[in-house]
Amino acid sequence: MPGGENSSERPAQDGHPKLDGSKGKAMTMQVKVDGTAREAKPEERLVDFLNRAGTTIPQVCYHPQLGPIQTCDTCMVEADGKLVRACATVVGAGMEVSTRSGRALSAQREAFDRILGNHMLYCTVCDNNNGNCTVHNTTRLLAVEHQTIPFKPKTYKVDSTNPFYRYDPDQCILCGRCVEACQNVQVNETLSIRWEDPHPRVLWDGGATIGESSCVSCGHCITVCPCNALMEKSMIGHAGFFTRLTQPALNGMIDLVKGIEPDTGYGSILKVSEAEAAMRESRIRRTKTVCTYCGVGCSFNIWTKDRHILKVEPSEGPANGISTCVKGKFAWDFVNSADRLTQPLIRDGSRFRKASWEEALDLVARRIAEIKAQSGPDSLAFISSSKCTNEESYLMQKLARAVIGTNNMDNCSRYCQSPATVGLWRTVGYGGDSGSIKDIENASLVVIIGSNTAESHPVLATRVKRAHKLRGQKLIVSDLRENEMAKRADLFLHPKPGTDLVWLSAITRYILDNGLAKTRFLDEWVNGLEEYRKSLEPFTMEFAAEICGLRIETLKKVADMIAAAEGVCMLWAMGVTQHSMGSDTSTAISNLLLVTGNYMRTGTGAYPLRGHNNVQGASDHGAMPNFLPGYQPVDDPGVRARFEAGWKVQLPVTKGLDNHEMIEAIHQGKLKAIYLFGEEISLVDSNSNFVDEGLAKLEFFVVQDVFFSDTCRFADVVLPASPSLEKEGTFTNTERRIQRLYQVFEPLGGSRPDWQIIQDLANRLGAKWHYQHPSEVYQEIAALTPLFAGVSYERLDGFKSLQWPVAADGTDEPLLYTKGFHFPDGKARLFPLSYSQPTDPPNGEFDLHLNNGRLLEHFHEGNLTYRSAGIREKTPDTFVEVSPELAAERGIQSGTWVQLVSRYGQVRVRAVVTDRVQGKELYMPMNSSDSPVNRLTSSHTDQITHTPAYKETSVLLRVLPESGPNPLPRANHRFGHPTPQHGVEVERKWKRTDYRIPGSQPTQFHAAKTKPNGS
Ligand code: SF4
Ligand code: SF4
Ligand code: SF4
Ligand code: FES
Repeated sequence: MPGGENSSERPAQDGHPKLDGSKGKAMTMQVKVDGTAREAKPEERLVDFLNRAGTTIPQVCYHPQLGPIQTCDTCMVEADGKLVRACATVVGAGMEVSTRSGRALSAQREAFDRILGNHMLYCTVCDNNNGNCTVHNTTRLLAVEHQTIPFKPKTYKVDSTNPFYRYDPDQCILCGRCVEACQNVQVNETLSIRWEDPHPRVLWDGGATIGESSCVSCGHCITVCPCNALMEKSMIGHAGFFTRLTQPALNGMIDLVKGIEPDTGYGSILKVSEAEAAMRESRIRRTKTVCTYCGVGCSFNIWTKDRHILKVEPSEGPANGISTCVKGKFAWDFVNSADRLTQPLIRDGSRFRKASWEEALDLVARRIAEIKAQSGPDSLAFISSSKCTNEESYLMQKLARAVIGTNNMDNCSRYCQSPATVGLWRTVGYGGDSGSIKDIENASLVVIIGSNTAESHPVLATRVKRAHKLRGQKLIVSDLRENEMAKRADLFLHPKPGTDLVWLSAITRYILDNGLAKTRFLDEWVNGLEEYRKSLEPFTMEFAAEICGLRIETLKKVADMIAAAEGVCMLWAMGVTQHSMGSDTSTAISNLLLVTGNYMRTGTGAYPLRGHNNVQGASDHGAMPNFLPGYQPVDDPGVRARFEAGWKVQLPVTKGLDNHEMIEAIHQGKLKAIYLFGEEISLVDSNSNFVDEGLAKLEFFVVQDVFFSDTCRFADVVLPASPSLEKEGTFTNTERRIQRLYQVFEPLGGSRPDWQIIQDLANRLGAKWHYQHPSEVYQEIAALTPLFAGVSYERLDGFKSLQWPVAADGTDEPLLYTKGFHFPDGKARLFPLSYSQPTDPPNGEFDLHLNNGRLLEHFHEGNLTYRSAGIREKTPDTFVEVSPELAAERGIQSGTWVQLVSRYGQVRVRAVVTDRVQGKELYMPMNSSDSPVNRLTSSHTDQITHTPAYKETSVLLRVLPESGPNPLPRANHRFGHPTPQHGVEVERKWKRTDYRIPGSQPTQFHAAKTKPNGS
């Protein structure tokens, strides 16, 4: 092929250098660049090497996290005399590279001129003119003065049908980054470019409007778009000084610029736009924060102008890179919501009146002191928030223990994660994910049990979807619903509710009985095999088939896949833990991993996916009834002595009440007062009628929150708190990764960061705390807690993070157990188990099983996400999923109102008929305050942890005469039709008859006309 080659061959996706096995050092090789010898790493992409070496070449479609997509051709260089795309070429020893030869420069310029034919340069009036526009910067880099291929509009309309972003085909340079991100990073497979079209453009579901496509509004495509073709609506008209103009005025300015371009050239015009971009720096702030929603822990820069959020820009977050889901990317309206609490409220009969902070805190301190004096410290309890920072949980438990003198302290990990933690404590020692998201990506087989990962941990799910799609990773999913991951799985199991322990134990026994266990691993690293083996006796395949309703062949296939896999990661969540056997089932998962040798290496391990953004951190930092920070037992005299010396107090010695026991204790008259922050207990605890009755009986109840939550109805004092964007601190994600968040806004109105409120109250109660900043709180935590000994704000600066345990020298452990398990002898422990039936079983009257969980769009009860107008538009309400069989039997259609009645309460809700559920199994998302699913759930719990058995609920269903529209509107992504393909499929572009490789024929682009100014 003259002048260059098309190649779809992709170098290593992660770009990591090869290591010299003996020394662990990167090997290098010599490559000559423009006459100068430089050290390159083996398997390094040429473009990465050049960037590292500081040799600037254009690279419009290249994004390191997407890999080479080869659509723009602007990165053409000569390598060993041949024109190649630097992004698609791997360095070779002795390679001679010329980035500035006449041929290379001419090819770069020709390629870029084609791009300008697809994009109108109106930078000064463009909201994307913020110094980071790739098209603008490449125009500058190549010193383009006049384009030879004139801009031609594509005749398609701007698509604004998505509430969060719009697509302007006329500005689209067809680089395909968005397609690659959607197909192969997010793996939603919505976007494509039909290269065969006369005038290609980006297509949603092959040609739908964005609003009615399968787009989940994750924002990947917008984040990677190198220009203004895809933009957040929140940017439009807000970022620039001249971008709020009316369309006619805007057109006038564009015409003016076009008019002077032939005389002045782009150089002068770009100077004006660059001056305008520089002016923007004075009013646009970029602040790093960590997502406030789920436990994946995405971090990003948030762009703001005053209190307006321009956009969320993910780029280098250690857990997420360029990834977000709709919530982290777009669901921030709540921060400026008109109904934020901005002043303390004090109950006045059946109403609340506004009060000053002085009055409210004085009242809280006085009542707490009175109740403590009358009924003792254990008549008070404290509930910390899994949404708030580590420092705030630490201070809350310090208030409870050191100031009040009680261990009645808990957080909402009680509602979801405690059983998983117990399962891991019993078997491997640490109560956290055994590795990182990267380790899950590296597995050859991922097994997901009771987790709707694509909706509850969306960004983590993208890594599994990607490995499954691109690397051939295998996927087994066990769930009641055929959720997205189940649809993608190589094997989908649908066991009967509450029976996971049985099939897990049966396949473990099968593996042991059939010589498939990793015996050397067991001999070297695991204790308790014989006793455990005995406990497996009842778990035959026949027993499992009968109890779980699964076929023996299927179970054997699962066992064989697990036994044969090089590395297995098992992921689970509330579908396992929120059962009466939640702790034991979590233990069964870990037992299976041990028997098959799936710990101690990347690509293996146990991953209980933490739900809230900081549910891991709240427990880690002592918001538990039996542990001081770092899981140090309250009944260990040595531990207490250390904290007593540090805090200069005497500490209570016995375990306190957990959340579940607190409600019981109120009903028994033992608990008189609760101070709770950032927790919607009246909607999210199970059997909420019983909970509400309890809360109503409290003598004194303080609720601290961002909004007047459902729980506030029972409060005596409501204190207005600040959300994550209005404070500093740290969160710990599901990977045990501690990350800093920086303050974006001042607290709204009179609201205050929780740590300041807790400190004010503690001082009114006699403490002498003087924390000026959360970093000082962390210094104290690190000094008292071996697990976090080396954590400091300096080590967490910017996007840096640490994964506990962190040694005093700052060494952390992204992958646990590489040298042994967290027990004194370094050996793991197999834990014997038995099975008991789920609680609240169906019978003739309550004949349906009700499952519940999260939705992608709303977080938990929805207090924050319902305040996002875009999310409301897409997903306005809750619903109950009904199977087609049951719908036909009962005459139900999507939109039919039904009443669900359990042994504990009832709700009225509209139906959605879907084959995601089967037979007599229903599913309700948990996001509703009007029809909360917890009116129906029971007070049964996991015996070990008291985690409610939310997933063991039976109901009867009454069809009501009314019906309405489908509660899921047509604009919901679930009605879309994705178009999976292998990324951009640039080969189809190369087959176009009008395509030729730049530089392959003589052109008018000569080196003399191009003056690269960046190298
Ligand atoms: S799902 Fe939607 S927002 Fe996400 S990358 Fe695809 S098209 Fe873009
Ligand atoms: S919309 Fe897609 S193809 Fe068009 S410029 Fe943006 S990233 Fe490239
Ligand atoms: S909700 Fe979870 S997955 Fe979505 S952006 Fe936030 S941390 Fe990431
Ligand atoms: S950057 Fe290499 S082809 Fe676009």
